[in-house]
Amino acid sequence: MTITAVKSSADVLTHYVVTLTDITDRKRLESEMAQRIEELKALNDRLEEAQTQLLQAEKMVAVGQLAAGIAHEINNPVGFVNSNLGTLKEYVTALLQLIDAYGPLADACPPGHPALAEVNRLRQDVDFAFIRDDALSLLAESRDGLERVKRIVVDLKDFSRVGESTWQPADVHRCLDSTLNVVSSELKYKATVVKEYGVLPEIMCMPFQLNQVFMNLLVNAVHAIKEHGTITLRTGQAAETVWIEVEDGGVGIPAENLTRIFEPFFTTKPIGAGTGLGLSVSYGIVQKHRGRIEVRSELGKGTVFRVILPISPPPEADLPAQEPARAET
Ligand SMILES: Nc1ncnc2c1ncn2[C@@H]1O[C@H](COP(=O)(O)OP(=O)(O)OP(=O)(O)O)[C@@H](O)[C@H]1O
Ligand SMILES: [Mg+2]
Repeated sequence: MTITAVKSSADVLTHYVVTLTDITDRKRLESEMAQRIEELKALNDRLEEAQTQLLQAEKMVAVGQLAAGIAHEINNPVGFVNSNLGTLKEYVTALLQLIDAYGPLADACPPGHPALAEVNRLRQDVDFAFIRDDALSLLAESRDGLERVKRIVVDLKDFSRVGESTWQPADVHRCLDSTLNVVSSELKYKATVVKEYGVLPEIMCMPFQLNQVFMNLLVNAVHAIKEHGTITLRTGQAAETVWIEVEDGGVGIPAENLTRIFEPFFTTKPIGAGTGLGLSVSYGIVQKHRGRIEVRSELGKGTVFRVILPISPPPEADLPAQEPARAET
């Protein structure tokens, strides 16, 4: 409504002109626009999230391909070394049997025979008693070593299937152990890993994706440790969920950062050292599992990340909205 005063030529107020405009349509349009803007914003958020996931997924695919390539290359030599070691063990056993069979012959030999003197000298020189004990245990040890290499190859192969996201029942402890194997070279000089595993049922999950979550948490934990420290892996079951804790005795997270660490690209690491995607991707994966991640941290003392996962998540179609990550100091 506008009101206009109208004056006569003698500057006397004679009329008011009142104009009424019906703005119902304009208001409706405005609220429609506002709603549309909200929708676009939400769409934009989703696009950004998808882009982040893509970036990380690309990185993981590249790492996965590398891992698969290495695993394949190692597999072949490991195979023939393993089979040769088996044959070698048979040969050595046969040779030792043969040497033993010479014993009575040597006893029957007249003392002072030059051949016997030579045999006795060699026996001493090469320390035959030691060799005979050690040869087989060396072979056994080499076999053990090779078994370890084989396990690493299997873990690498598992790991290279990160892109695979099939739901299947899985043993969380196996996921943790194989991830530990993959990152062990990064961990072993800086951290002692302590396992405090509880008793867990198998859970319905995407194990290769969970491996990625555990890897991100473990790598962050070791990065938080300055010189040397302990990383504790704890697990347990609570009602219809299992929980996994990764605790480090590292630098801790300042309160003002606690609410930001799950944001994509949030990093306190120097340029080039961290992309700031680890936790946001982990958050996304845990969300897909209908679980949640909690974090407690104390500056200078360390940090505990706790992943809580349902044992049998509801089918994806009727999933409720996800509550946001909880952070506390
Ligand atoms: N265990 C921890 N102790 C201390 N700070 C941590 C810990 N975990 C995460 N943070 C903090 O959260 C930030 C974000 O972690 P996030 O894993 O998302 O990225 P990033 O480790 O910096 O890089 P990357 O993409 O290589 O993982 C880290 O830069 C660090 O400041
Ligand atoms: Mg990280």
